[in-house]
Amino acid sequence: MADSPVRVNNPNNVPAGPTPDEQKKMEAAYSQMKRKMAMSEMGKSIKHKIMVLSGKGGVGKSTVATGLALSLAQQGLKVGLLDIDITGPNVPKMMGLTGRRLNVESGRIHPAQGHLGVKVISMAFLLEDEDTPVVWRGPIKLGAIQQFIGDVEWGGLDYLIIDFPPGTSDEPLTVAQNLPDIDGMVIVTTPQDVALLDSRKSITFANSLKVNVIGVIENMSGYTVRGKAPSGTDIELAAPGGKTIRVTADSEGNWSGTLDIFKSGGGEKTAAEFGVPFLGKLPFDPGFVRGGDDGVHRIVSEPDGPSSLAFAEVVAQIQTKVESSSLNTGLEII
Ligand SMILES: Nc1ncnc2c1ncn2[C@@H]1O[C@H](COP(=O)(O)OP(=O)(O)OP(=O)(O)O)[C@@H](O)[C@H]1O
Ligand SMILES: [Mg+2]
Repeated sequence: MADSPVRVNNPNNVPAGPTPDEQKKMEAAYSQMKRKMAMSEMGKSIKHKIMVLSGKGGVGKSTVATGLALSLAQQGLKVGLLDIDITGPNVPKMMGLTGRRLNVESGRIHPAQGHLGVKVISMAFLLEDEDTPVVWRGPIKLGAIQQFIGDVEWGGLDYLIIDFPPGTSDEPLTVAQNLPDIDGMVIVTTPQDVALLDSRKSITFANSLKVNVIGVIENMSGYTVRGKAPSGTDIELAAPGGKTIRVTADSEGNWSGTLDIFKSGGGEKTAAEFGVPFLGKLPFDPGFVRGGDDGVHRIVSEPDGPSSLAFAEVVAQIQTKVESSSLNTGLEII
């Protein structure tokens, strides 16, 4: 009798409605189902989805994720940038969107428009005060990520780039479990050994998530010093590691030499070791730091500069890889 929908003390035998507890459970199941449908819809309306990860913090993931988005947008593609790092408001800053709040209309979240029309959703849009660190309990963070996947009105995109906090945390796992048809992840590293060790961990992590590794990007890879001198002048640069770099001023009196501040070639070595593609090197460019501070990314302030060209080359590699393959996440969508 306990399971019967008809209550014993119901004189007219009218089927009883759900209890408040049952009602709550039904509503939760319904909204979960709606979100699941929206997430699967999102899988279809966004052609390519790329996760940007690194094992180590501060290697330039957010700078690279933002740069990839802007470089793709430079080609006239429709691009979204999803920033899942609650600890720092870096992405909104680089996209000139500091202080934005989440824009919700009719139950749907609308992205903010950053530089070059890139649509941006950031965890930082949820923060009341960007200077106060927020400690999110696991389930709340997970729910927020699911909402950012299922409830955002992206409006059809060619590419969605997703930036994460450093390391092998819950965030990429949640995304891999909830977002269908992820093309794969790119792993950002700097050339030094400790960062490389961590990017090896990222590759192992990607394998455990069953997400394809699109490739490794080596960031902060060489700083090019430029100058003027009478044509034909030989110049000696004192480079790291006690090395000397010799360059000669050209016929117009320009000279340049590249210093490997954080060593060189390590990203390539890691990629080769794990049999994943190497996508290229991005130079050390103080313009990235300035761009982070004043809200104008290097690609926007110097669209034809050496850093923008380096990004364009990396992006071309990524496009070749994802547009010619149908590799998806192998994780079961929950
Ligand atoms: N190629 C580069 N040349 C010079 N500076 C860079 C370069 N890439 C990133 N930076 C600078 O390094 C710092 C860290 O970059 P960023 O915030 O993108 O790293 P991150 O990996 O996202 O960090 P976190 O792990 O905290 O999320 C910033 O000040 C940024 O401007
Ligand atoms: Mg970051």
